[in-house]
Amino acid sequence: MEDVVIRIVELKKSFENNRVLDGVNLEVERGKITVIIGKSGSGKSVLLKHIIGLMKPDSGEIWVDGVEITRLDESELNKMRTKFGVLFQEAALFDSMTIWENVAFPLIERTKMRKEEIKRIVDEKLEQVGLFGHDDKLPSEVSGGMKKRAGLARALVLDPPVVLFDEPTAGVDPVTALTILRLIQDTQRKLKKTYVIISHDIIGMFRIADKVAMLSGGKIIAYGTPEEIISMDVEEISQFLEAARIKEIGGKK
Ligand SMILES: Nc1ncnc2c1ncn2[C@@H]1O[C@H](COP(=O)(O)OP(=O)(O)O)[C@@H](O)[C@H]1O
Ligand SMILES: [Mg+2]
Repeated sequence: MEDVVIRIVELKKSFENNRVLDGVNLEVERGKITVIIGKSGSGKSVLLKHIIGLMKPDSGEIWVDGVEITRLDESELNKMRTKFGVLFQEAALFDSMTIWENVAFPLIERTKMRKEEIKRIVDEKLEQVGLFGHDDKLPSEVSGGMKKRAGLARALVLDPPVVLFDEPTAGVDPVTALTILRLIQDTQRKLKKTYVIISHDIIGMFRIADKVAMLSGGKIIAYGTPEEIISMDVEEISQFLEAARIKEIGGKK
């Protein structure tokens, strides 16, 4: 049996009469890149917020390292969250802090490390994402791609065993998107942590995924390696791949 870090069982969530998650079942394997693919509005961000305990389900279970987290109180949740690094969709940097301060923030907030130690780690992470030398700029002074990279450095700074990414390549140009994908793949190979990536960029994600899960109609309708997913005869996947191919060809004109 595979080593499972996150196990989601029959997860359901509605907002008034909008049923977004309708019985999601998923197992995330340790030390792999799992990509959750789904159309815009299919509930990917809602699913991610459940995994880190920012939203409570109507029913269902989420197990993280053998602990069922949907019933934890806020202080237990906080402890659980130290396992996670998160790169939110909009990078969610603090506007008034420099890039360096943004990346240092989790270390200052969550650890009792000495100044020199913090400096060593932050500089190393900034180097890893290619932002060394831009560290005293404010988020408003750098490009979208650099903000994403700063968000990535911040998500990795505590060396968490699980890193969650919400649309890491959305809203950046194709070249930057490729750089970010390589960066994600390189750091995962180096650090061997569990990465869960949520995205609608099916072509990009198939390049780096170990496992792909397709979210549609509030359920995971397909799960497997990229090769397995492509060979499955599932209408939603064919549509998704077709649309992505048309977009890619269109972009090369
Ligand atoms: N806090 C909320 N309150 C009400 N509806 C929400 C909330 N968050 C998300 N939704 C709805 O849930 C659906 C899925 O949203 P989301 O998970 O953000 O989609 P995506 O797959 O694009 O990330 C959408 O219809 C959205 O309007
Ligand atoms: Mg989203």
